Amino acid sequence: MAIDNANCLPPSTPMASDQQPLLEGRTVSKYFGGLAAVNNVDFAVYPGEIVGLIGPNGSGKTTLFDCLSRLQKIDGGKITFKGRDVTRARPYQVARMGLSRTFQSVRVYRKMTVLRNMLISHQWRDTSLLLMLRPSPASTASRAHQLLNFLQIEHLAHEDAGHLSGGQRRLLEIGMALMPDPEILLLDEATSGVNPTLIETIKDRIRTLNQQGKTFLLIEHNINFIADLCSRVYVLNYGEKLAEGTPQEILQNEAVIDAYFGA
Ligand SMILES: Nc1ncnc2c1ncn2[C@@H]1O[C@H](COP(=O)(O)OP(=O)(O)OP(=O)(O)O)[C@@H](O)[C@H]1O
Ligand SMILES: [Mg+2]
Repeated sequence: MAIDNANCLPPSTPMASDQQPLLEGRTVSKYFGGLAAVNNVDFAVYPGEIVGLIGPNGSGKTTLFDCLSRLQKIDGGKITFKGRDVTRARPYQVARMGLSRTFQSVRVYRKMTVLRNMLISHQWRDTSLLLMLRPSPASTASRAHQLLNFLQIEHLAHEDAGHLSGGQRRLLEIGMALMPDPEILLLDEATSGVNPTLIETIKDRIRTLNQQGKTFLLIEHNINFIADLCSRVYVLNYGEKLAEGTPQEILQNEAVIDAYFGA
C-alpha cells in the first residue's frame, strides 16, 4: 500500500511509556449470537495521542467503538477510562467523564438548524429528554458559535442540517461531539462521503484540536489520512487484533496487506 504523506506535518507525538492510558481495553470481547465481532482485543490510547483503528469491512471497528462508548455491553474483558473501571458504565456516564464519539452514519437532526443541533448535543450527557430540551444558557450558544466558526461552518448556523453536504454534516457532527468539551474523541469514518477539500479541513481541525490537548481514536478507511495524523495504529481482522504499530510499520506488514487485499 503506497502512501503519500509529503508536505504533511509530523503525526501526533507518540506516548511516553510511563504514562497511564487515558482509555484502555483488556481482552475486550463482544459476541452477536455465535459471531465474535470483537474477540479478546487489548489496546491503549494515551493522553495526547491520535491513534488509528483500521481493518477490512466487518472486522469489528464500529462494534469496538460501541463497546467503548458503552452503547453495547461487552461479553468479556475490561474497559478503563481515566484509570476508572467503566466496563459496566452507562453511555451518559462515560460522556460526563469526557468521552465523545461520532457515528459511521452521521447522526444529526436533519430538520433542526445547525445551531440547534449543537445546543442539543451539549445536553447529551443528561439523562432525560426534558433536561435535554431545556433552554440553553448564553454561554452555551456562544461556545456553539465559536466551534462552528472553528469548523468553518458558522455561515450555516441557521440552515437545517438536512441541507448540508456530506462533508459539512461530518464537520457538524464533530462540532456536536466537541460541545461537552471532551478529553477524547472517537471518530468513526470522519472522511467517508467527504470531498477532498473538506477532508483536508477535517484533518487540519483534528491536528489543531490535538495540539490543544484533545486525544483521538480514529476509525478510517483512508490510509493517507491515518498516515498523516496518527502516531500509532491498531488493525482489526475478523474481530481480532491483527497488528499494531506506527503507520509505516502497519503499511509494510504482510498480514495487514493480506487482510486488505486477500491472499
Ligand atoms: N447489532 C448487530 N447484530 C448482529 N451483528 C452485528 C451487529 N453489529 C455488527 N454486527 C456484525 O459484527 C461484525 C463487525 O461489524 P462492525 O460494524 O463492527 O465492523 P466494521 O469493522 O465497523 O466494518 P465497516 O468497515 O464495514 O464499517 C460484522 O460481521 C457485522 O455484521
Ligand atoms: Mg464500521
